[in-house]
Amino acid sequence: MSILLFPGSFDPFTMGHCDIAKRASKLCDKLVVAVMDNSAKHPAFSTEDRVNMARESLKEYKNIEVVSSGGLLVDLFKELGCSAVVRGIRSESDFRYEAEMAMANRLLYADYEVLLLPCRENLSMTSSTIVKEVCYYGGDISKMVPAQIVDFVTKELKKGRS
Ligand code: PNS
Repeated sequence: MSILLFPGSFDPFTMGHCDIAKRASKLCDKLVVAVMDNSAKHPAFSTEDRVNMARESLKEYKNIEVVSSGGLLVDLFKELGCSAVVRGIRSESDFRYEAEMAMANRLLYADYEVLLLPCRENLSMTSSTIVKEVCYYGGDISKMVPAQIVDFVTKELKKGRS
């Protein structure tokens, strides 16, 4: 069985993440979406909320599973027996970041592999950071995050404001 792993902070899960997950799920038998920690970021949502948002957004896709891990990506990769990691890229700067991460991960595990999927044009400006910024100032995020989680994300981020 071919397993692909799609890791990220998903803080919160966006339409861009959803599109990559959906497309990647067609390239394998099973896609594991892993909610992980990025030591350079302080998440606005708990791990549990990030997992629930991803699960809710992807529930119609039967070969997608959502998990969380607080460890190293290569350890999860080995544990699950994945063929490759999938990451979405929006820009040249994303590409540079992904290339660096891939090299670091390959130093940790020689058989590590990554597939980079370019995002759809209309989603190139959507990021979790933009979603948080728009929400913070009371803007409408319905075109940025999956419909199933718009209310939750808006409510949670409003709480953080008050
Ligand atoms: O959505 P993000 O923040 O770009 O995702 C980055 C993430 C979570 C995939 C990356 O930080 C990661 O792999 N974290 C787990 C810890 C790890 O293995 N770090 C080494 C990467 S070189």
